[in-house]
Amino acid sequence: MADTITIIDDRTGKKVTIPIVDSTFASSGLRELDPNLRMYDPAYLSTAACRSAITYLDGDAGILRYRGYPIEQLAEKSTFLEVAYLLLNGDLPNEAQLAQWKHDVTHHTMIHENMRKRFVDGFHYDAHPMGMFVSALAALGTFYPGAKDVFDDDTLDKQILRLIAKTPTIAAMCYRFSTGLPFVSPNNSLDFAANFLNMMFRIGDDFSVDPVLARAMDLLFILHADHEQNCGTTAMRVVGSSNADPYSASAAAASALYGPLHGGANEAVVRMLAEIGTLENVPGFIQSVKDGKGRLMGFGHRVYKNYDPRAKIIKKAAYDVFERTGKNPLLDIALKLEEVALSDEYFVKRKLYPNVDFYSGLIYQALGFPVDMFTVLFAIPRTAGWLAHYAELLKDPEQKISRPRQLYTGADVRDYVPMSARK
Ligand code: CMC
Repeated sequence: MADTITIIDDRTGKKVTIPIVDSTFASSGLRELDPNLRMYDPAYLSTAACRSAITYLDGDAGILRYRGYPIEQLAEKSTFLEVAYLLLNGDLPNEAQLAQWKHDVTHHTMIHENMRKRFVDGFHYDAHPMGMFVSALAALGTFYPGAKDVFDDDTLDKQILRLIAKTPTIAAMCYRFSTGLPFVSPNNSLDFAANFLNMMFRIGDDFSVDPVLARAMDLLFILHADHEQNCGTTAMRVVGSSNADPYSASAAAASALYGPLHGGANEAVVRMLAEIGTLENVPGFIQSVKDGKGRLMGFGHRVYKNYDPRAKIIKKAAYDVFERTGKNPLLDIALKLEEVALSDEYFVKRKLYPNVDFYSGLIYQALGFPVDMFTVLFAIPRTAGWLAHYAELLKDPEQKISRPRQLYTGADVRDYVPMSARK
């Protein structure tokens, strides 16, 4: 069988045969038929917009790999900083490389005093931390004039390092501001996750981070580090394609993540579980979803048509955390919802399974995070993925500035109407 596809334009009888490589064919072949012919693919359901060697995802089989390594192995054996190195560099670091990377990240965690005092203090006292976080990413770039020098490898590496090292500091700073607590400086003797928890929750001198909870935080960071061409990563690539600096592009990606259909879903799940309130209300809630009155948040995925492998790992990790913190009372409602939904024809037929957000919020809550912080917690590790894609994009000779076409559906040409003649 030929590895080609033949498209016939029935209006003209012209045909074009295009090679199929890696299950894709170049849409540029259509131009041979008619330069004005377009593929209509809102939301990119069938469009591959780039080549990428970072993350492999098979949604039907429930497979997720970073640079070839199964997420289950990374979750069990690795650390977030090692995974960030892997995503950015393509391979796991050796001992010396990892030591250097950890040292470099640890020594770039501080943020400029003006960022904290002038920029952050300008927000209203009850500002949403994710809104602050998004703006802070863009603002951070203004402190580094070299940020715009995106084609100088050393300079770009420096910005990538800064962004990865400083996002936990910014996140904790946004939280402390929104709760009226004094800022806690980074502590170089702690590892990445423990340092973040320390900056978040430290009150008084006798505070120490529980290593079990720090490990759970690190695990959640690993699981959220990348997920190929999702909405946020696509925003990163689209903005990066104009050669905007990585801080501005990361702010765009974080804005995309903020939405309730994307990274905001973990917040929506916990609010939904609290609203359901009791086990008895679960069947009624499921019925209301089936009747079209809202969605079952934390369920369904554009790509996974099977159990999200990250959800499986998180569900297991939740029990380790609850052993330490006490069970989150919303867990029973979540388990019941999952049980009812997975045996209900509506969800089975549409292949709707729990996604990464279904259980992550319960752990975040048990760790002491308010729901407003959940999407920020997703954004911290995803910054590593965004930057890996950004760097890959800049080196890809096939990429140009992103510029989709449209089907114009507006008014035909018409003459300007003077005010006196308008109805
Ligand atoms: N609850 C109830 N019905 C749903 C749900 C849901 N969570 N998700 C999809 N459906 C139904 C939808 O109504 C449609 O039914 P029908 O064919 O009868 O019209 C069908 O399933 C297909 O839905 P879709 O909206 O065409 O699917 P999509 O691929 O465009 O949407 C999604 C994917 C994640 C936006 C969607 O499943 C959703 O809204 N889920 C809830 C929000 C959520 O949990 N988001 C987190 C995603 S994972 C983290 C991340 O990567 O951001």
